[in-house]
Amino acid sequence: MPRTSHPILGFEITLDRTSNITLDKQIAEAVRRAVQTGALMPGDLVTPIRQLAQYLNVARATVDAAYAELIAEGLLFSVRGRGTFVSSSHVCRKTSAAAPPAASAVQKPIADSTAVCVSALGYLMPQKNIPLAIVSTSADVSPRDFQAYFQRAAKKHLLDQVYDHPCGLPALREAIARIASRLRNVQCRPEQVVVTSGSQLGLMMAMMTLLNPGDRVCIENPAYPLLRAAGFLRGIDPVYAPVDAEGLDIEAAKELCPNPRAIFLTPSNQCPLGVVMSMKRRRAILDWAQVSGAWVVEDDYDSELRYEGNLPFPALYGMDHGANVIYVGTFSKMLFPGLRLGYLIVPEHLVESFAGMRLILDRQSHSIAQHAVAEYIQDGFYEAHVRKMRQIFDTRYHEIRELVERDWGDWGCFISGAQGMHVTFRFHNQAIDDKAVFEACLEQGVETRYLSSFYAPGSSQAMRGLVLGFGFFNREQMLSAVSRIGFVLRHRFAEFGPA
Ligand SMILES: Cc1ncc(COP(=O)(O)O)c(C=O)c1O
Repeated sequence: MPRTSHPILGFEITLDRTSNITLDKQIAEAVRRAVQTGALMPGDLVTPIRQLAQYLNVARATVDAAYAELIAEGLLFSVRGRGTFVSSSHVCRKTSAAAPPAASAVQKPIADSTAVCVSALGYLMPQKNIPLAIVSTSADVSPRDFQAYFQRAAKKHLLDQVYDHPCGLPALREAIARIASRLRNVQCRPEQVVVTSGSQLGLMMAMMTLLNPGDRVCIENPAYPLLRAAGFLRGIDPVYAPVDAEGLDIEAAKELCPNPRAIFLTPSNQCPLGVVMSMKRRRAILDWAQVSGAWVVEDDYDSELRYEGNLPFPALYGMDHGANVIYVGTFSKMLFPGLRLGYLIVPEHLVESFAGMRLILDRQSHSIAQHAVAEYIQDGFYEAHVRKMRQIFDTRYHEIRELVERDWGDWGCFISGAQGMHVTFRFHNQAIDDKAVFEACLEQGVETRYLSSFYAPGSSQAMRGLVLGFGFFNREQMLSAVSRIGFVLRHRFAEFGPA
């Protein structure tokens, strides 16, 4: 009986040619087992039919029949011209396979999605609060005047914190509607604002309110990994579409997914590439949403920050008057990530659905934090703080680029534009293992994110590079971190460096 471990498939297939179980059934069963044990993860590309047939020395029709059976079951799905992938609705059980429970423990079943949650702890854990983390705090950038607002709110409201409206305090909803209009050209009534615990809850609420499990959803590739994880939890069928210098490649996206139920985007600062979606593409996305009936979920996480005198492009929500767009905003970047305050702006007719979802998922946000932020905005300090951040970050954006250019700029190039809190550097030599670079930098006390980790598993177009945060660190800190990265590159990865 040949026992073969396919190099791409990454798990063993044992074909028994003497068995009365047909070969296609045996192959299907092997793939099924691989998904159950986590050897294949949602979104993974499975080995192409021709390649697997050749490797196992069976007819192509045999592998074709096996895959067809799994597609009919919903375990796999195929994308014309791209290949066959593991569906997200069949989440693996990697943890139970990888870490068998103690002999004495009684094994009780838990949700399939737990595997995704546990693996999220590995690759989605927050960055250490050291250079060059993307979001951090620092005395010269953090809003020190906010402290007085928080203390005042605590003094006034500490003993009258009750269950409030799930969508948030009226004063905060009003204040958010005001800054959304002034900073992002989003015109809405305060009643359309739903206060959340940061964008993450907003994104999850959009998944839960707009989508059913199994719905086809267009997601940028690369994308914010916590968005992909939220999609796994909801059980959507993600279709990952490429991004180019103008943002989501809409023609490619339409071909891959002609009728998505929703499109999730970061148009003002593509996460992580740092590309700003052009006006032409913005109009095309809204036209596509109109014609296809898709929702657009716009994650506008740090769009207040644009440099070199550039004004932020208007939010998609503002261009569409909110007919097809759900706007996701956050105070994590402009104030503090630990505050856990963000917001959704939703079309009028969806307010009740989102309000109910907010109530069920987490009742409401922290009352004192809501009072404090509402007053901080009302008194005009929030906008002053944004202006100050814009100025400081503008300088630091140019500083980090200059420091990298001088030290190891010949290893690659920047692909991100002049906005946000991170720069994205792509290595010229794409054979480099950017995860290994990231790990080596961390050993030297430098935080980064590696570019390939933002791509859907199995993406053939995944780029290798580093994502560096710059806003919260002064020139000396950035200089030290950049030179330590240079040291790591030259000493540990010399063979991938410039000739
Ligand atoms: C694309 C994107 N959206 C949203 C956020 C903010 O998340 P939250 O508001 O949940 O803190 C981040 C933070 O890094 C992000 O990169």
